Amino acid sequence: MECRSACVTEFFCRKKKNVKTAVSLTLLFATLLMLQKLITVDTNSKDKKVEVKGRWCGPQCPSFKSKNLKAVENSSHSGGSDSKRAFKPLPKKWDVNKITCTENSTIKTQLWFRRLSPRFHEFVLHRHCRYFPMLLNHPEKCGGGVDVLVVVKSVIEEHDRREAVRKTWGKEQEIQGLKIKTLFLLGTPAPGKDSRNLQALVQYEDRTYGDILQWDFMDTFFNLTLKEVNFLRWFSIYCPDVPFIFKGDDDVFVHTKNLVELIGFRKEENKVENLIVGDAILEAKPIRNRQSKYFIPRELYDKRYPPYLGGGGFLMSSQVARKVFTVSESVELYPIDDVFVGMCLQKLNIVPEVHLGFRTFGIIKRKVTRLNREPCFFRDLIVVHKLVPQDLLKMWTLVQNEDLSCARQFVL
Ligand SMILES: *[C@@H]1O[C@H](CO)[C@@H](O)[C@H](O)[C@H]1NC(C)=O
Ligand SMILES: *[C@@H]1O[C@H](CO)[C@@H](O)[C@H](O)[C@H]1NC(C)=O
Ligand SMILES: *[C@@H]1O[C@H](CO)[C@@H](O)[C@H](O)[C@H]1NC(C)=O
Repeated sequence: MECRSACVTEFFCRKKKNVKTAVSLTLLFATLLMLQKLITVDTNSKDKKVEVKGRWCGPQCPSFKSKNLKAVENSSHSGGSDSKRAFKPLPKKWDVNKITCTENSTIKTQLWFRRLSPRFHEFVLHRHCRYFPMLLNHPEKCGGGVDVLVVVKSVIEEHDRREAVRKTWGKEQEIQGLKIKTLFLLGTPAPGKDSRNLQALVQYEDRTYGDILQWDFMDTFFNLTLKEVNFLRWFSIYCPDVPFIFKGDDDVFVHTKNLVELIGFRKEENKVENLIVGDAILEAKPIRNRQSKYFIPRELYDKRYPPYLGGGGFLMSSQVARKVFTVSESVELYPIDDVFVGMCLQKLNIVPEVHLGFRTFGIIKRKVTRLNREPCFFRDLIVVHKLVPQDLLKMWTLVQNEDLSCARQFVL
């Protein structure tokens, strides 16, 4: 019994190693196939008609780096007026009190901007705005010896998902001596939503649970990176003593006990300093399919992505979080938050750890797969992507059941 639970997080139990290896290889293979399909093949790399001067390929562009260091300094904040932020010690509390974010209209005159698909205009024009005022804050959250801070990306409307998370993996509790606290990260409603009422509701929700951080920026897909950098800054200010962060979406399943075991393993192995672990994507290319949510035009980025972790759920140590925060201030914001963190890690020479227990991509997305209804599958994992709140609650109950019998091997 001891062995089973101890091995589970490492995914391979020594005794059942062969069967498990076969199963996980199959899963891995399926995942790779899916990824291959998702990522459109970049065939134009021979197309070497590079306009070096006007070409704009973001922070990774060799000519960008030295030239734009000053611009990066300028762009690292929207509140405050100190342009030496990167060298300034952190304030004692959140010090951005008003929005000073206006669009950078010089960009509009540039050729690459006009070629850019309109979806990206809003993003590019406000790309220099980084930190925003807080509408809901919990400076007290990290006090009193928190070991794992669980932070969940959510949007105001997804109240049901937050409820399900609070009742399941995000429950504030102590597991094997580790104290877990939870926070939800929100922006403001996107235009066209009933913002006044939604805001009143979320304030009520926060008075009830005291677990919401809200910043005054629009909660859009391309603004998720703002959620990342504002949280990292918040964490660096308010949580000096919290050793671990689990960061995830509000629609995933997390096996909290397995997560805690994984932390135990990495502590034993002394691998905490650079610990960041999840579902890693290596050598991915930007998606050029315009239908995709993740489409990125060449004007914005034209190389391979650095290794990065799926934002659905990953674990990192506070050391990594602080380092990522520090370098993030000199990395231009990128519209995909997972990739942005990957860019920061690359600058730090930190390689994210791949762990098969984290399933934030691929197979599970196909709703018909039987695995979505198979508690034994969930029992051996740490994070699984995409569940509606009812399924999350059901699965949670099933997996917690000590009598769960998993002798039968599941097959794909
Ligand atoms: C606005 O855009 C121009 C042109 O890309 C750039 O040179 C300038 O640094 C930007 N200003 C800010 C505040 O980001
Ligand atoms: C940085 O900001 C200062 C003052 O706000 C401005 O004068 C300067 O042109 C900016 N530099 C760049 C490169 O945008
Ligand atoms: C991000 O939020 C800011 C502040 O609310 C807004 O001005 C900007 O348009 C948003 N960007 C995108 C791409 O939605």
